[in-house]
Amino acid sequence: MKERASFGTRLGAIAATVGSAVGLGNIWRFPYEAGQNGGGAYILVYIACVIFLGIPIILSEFIIGRSTHKTMMGALKELKPKSKIYNFTYVCIAGAVVTLGFYSVVCGWVVEYLVRAIGGGLSGHSPQQYSQIFNDFTGNGFRCVIWTLLFLAVNFWIVSRGVKKGIEGVSSFMMPLLFLLLIIFCVNSLLLPNSGKGLEFLLYPDFSHLTWKSVINAMGQSFMSLSLGVAMLITYSSYFSDKTSLTRDAVTISALDTLVAILAGVVIFPAVFSFGMEPQAGPKLIFEVLPSIFQQMAGGYIWAVLFFVLLLFASITSTISISEVAISFFIEQHHMSRNRATLWCAVPVTVIALLSALSFNVLSDVEILGMNLFDLFNYAASNVFMIIGGMFTAVFVGWFLDKRIITEQLTNRGTIKSHAQGYVIFCLRYVAPVTVCLIFLFLVGLI
Ligand code: ALA
Repeated sequence: MKERASFGTRLGAIAATVGSAVGLGNIWRFPYEAGQNGGGAYILVYIACVIFLGIPIILSEFIIGRSTHKTMMGALKELKPKSKIYNFTYVCIAGAVVTLGFYSVVCGWVVEYLVRAIGGGLSGHSPQQYSQIFNDFTGNGFRCVIWTLLFLAVNFWIVSRGVKKGIEGVSSFMMPLLFLLLIIFCVNSLLLPNSGKGLEFLLYPDFSHLTWKSVINAMGQSFMSLSLGVAMLITYSSYFSDKTSLTRDAVTISALDTLVAILAGVVIFPAVFSFGMEPQAGPKLIFEVLPSIFQQMAGGYIWAVLFFVLLLFASITSTISISEVAISFFIEQHHMSRNRATLWCAVPVTVIALLSALSFNVLSDVEILGMNLFDLFNYAASNVFMIIGGMFTAVFVGWFLDKRIITEQLTNRGTIKSHAQGYVIFCLRYVAPVTVCLIFLFLVGLI
């Protein structure tokens, strides 16, 4: 039998999984979501979502993936051979494709800003001018499309080379470097005049700003940031070795991912208040604020280039992992070659990416449910697909999976202790379904 690829080392597996979790979700999406949903109170809800839903759902995906060493559909067929539950995989793959589609547009924005940073075009402007620069750029359909396509081409080229070479090597050194850079930027932001106001906005929980909508947004954001509900973690953990401690890795990954998001907030909000900018600026927030930050730093040119290079790598480690979901599905279930599977994934992703990139210009008049296409895909990815996918795995593992498999996986067949099992099962069985009910009641207008 052909031996299945696996991550070379424990550190390699963690680095690749953290690399996949940490990306634009933490650095681009988290700050603007926090800005639009009231700051501190939103962040508390976000952290609660990570602890009560995120970690247990990561573990549920790990249990499915590692116990079978298969990706989602194969795993569900093996775990529940008599049921048709494996068809749910299609929902997760659709979620992965939608996520990749809108996400690659933002990656294209990062490429544009990297190119501008290299050319020196990111310095010498006022914060208001940076806002205009962003609007002018996204208003230019051609440029947005070219960068998005270029990004997708590189992404799919890397994925077509296979899991180990493509992912492990890149993540292991880029992630620590990005982390270091964020810490340096945090110190710089905290030293700005008026930074205290930004910090207060970020850390003081003013619950009067919290609504049900912001609670759902915080949940969707935590799912997006941890890449839950799109079978990504099932796919990655199918490559884990049997010695990996799933609980320890789930906690490490969630902690690092949340830390990066909060660090990004500490970089952005003191600067927003210091430069008199708008915390509710939405998706363009970091593209306005960061150039203003680099501008006032000594050696701003180098910082800007370095930052956008690293952000690009953080983004690509995320897109690689999400692409792997669909590609390994085609390889495993339809026996396609990796190149052919890559093509099958690339086509729908590119269509969604093009629609998203054009929604700021050529298609700016198209609105569905009050959102342009980019916002719609962005919202649907986190708040619909990921929440539904994540809750499915929670309920599946919590209620329907043989408890022996859970114990076996959390204790590595009795070779390590697991103190978390009771907690994990409680969250999967009760916290996740009750949360779904609350969301449903909110959506139908009963709360
Ligand atoms: N988890 C990935 C991110 O946060 C999608 O960017």
